[in-house]
Amino acid sequence: MLTLGIETSCDETGIALYDSEAGLLAHEVYSQIALHQEYGGVVPELASRDHIQKTIPLITNVLLSAGKSLRQVQGIAYTAGPGLVGALLVGATIGRTLGWALNIPTIAVHHMEGHLLAPMLEVNKPAFPFVALLVSGGHTMLVKVEGVGAYTLLGESIDDAAGEAFDKTAKLLGLGYPGGAALAKLAEQGVAERYHFPRPMVNRPGLDFSFSGLKTFAMNTVLTAGDDPQTLADIAYAFQEAVVDTLVIKCKRALEQTQINRLVIAGGVSANHRLRHQLTALMKTLQGQVYYPRHEWCTDNGAMIAYAGSLRLQAGQRDDLSIKPRPRWDMTELVAL
Ligand code: KG4
Ligand code: ZN
Repeated sequence: MLTLGIETSCDETGIALYDSEAGLLAHEVYSQIALHQEYGGVVPELASRDHIQKTIPLITNVLLSAGKSLRQVQGIAYTAGPGLVGALLVGATIGRTLGWALNIPTIAVHHMEGHLLAPMLEVNKPAFPFVALLVSGGHTMLVKVEGVGAYTLLGESIDDAAGEAFDKTAKLLGLGYPGGAALAKLAEQGVAERYHFPRPMVNRPGLDFSFSGLKTFAMNTVLTAGDDPQTLADIAYAFQEAVVDTLVIKCKRALEQTQINRLVIAGGVSANHRLRHQLTALMKTLQGQVYYPRHEWCTDNGAMIAYAGSLRLQAGQRDDLSIKPRPRWDMTELVAL
């Protein structure tokens, strides 16, 4: 089955073609970072307008590079949520309308399910069950995954997501938007042990996270220590260590609690080298395995949406004719396949 995937939940237009036999045929991502940079964050109205301009040309490009015509597409998967309502509406309307015009089934995909299943696009993919750490700009979740759609939420952030904490701290260190990757780069110049940030909520039982205090801690450190380049790098280092350490501690706890020794990390922050390194070390001591998608499938993309949608379409799931973006959507409501 040839599935077209459309991702427009935030500030990336992602389009992909996934074939259930041959795998991923083509994918393209257009990032709006430059558009939002001068505002220091995503401007929802600008995001929607840009998705309107980019989605159809990108679909044409992806079809061309895969050597396929629109008539050969057998199903359409689009991100229906969670995300910015106007941005979601663009992908959902284009996806649903194309489905109607071509008389082929469509499926509304949950953005975080897309992230969660992205490592399954790799040759070395995890078997079920596994524990997934989903770390993006909007979410931080630990999920027990027993199959596609069989998700138990083990813990989540009660305030800022990990990526959001990276972005906010990056902003106050004078790095651009989104600053997660830039902060990680700056941290490479940092001196260890100069500053020590707290590890929020690790001394309490449970698997929830809280990251909003870390940006305040970073701000207070800048206010007292100054903002010379080395100090900023040392703060970036200490901040990253605190986030990574906290995530590692909670992953270990989740694996112990579920008695599972396979860990998946996905979402934008899973591109972070320090996090990957520390989780790889953890899984070595636990004699387990860690899985993560390649870099381009960590951040938002159409491939993960085409893949997740393809699995659901092949299982016979279909949308009705209505177009229903869901800015808030609990992943545990999804139907298991
Ligand atoms: O999954 P994603 O592309 O979008 C959402 O669904 O939110 O994640 C974007 C987030 C941003 O907060 C970005 O700063 C963060 O992922 N990110 C990183 C790195 N690369 C991207 N955070 C830390 N280290 C990185 N290398
Ligand atoms: Zn995402």
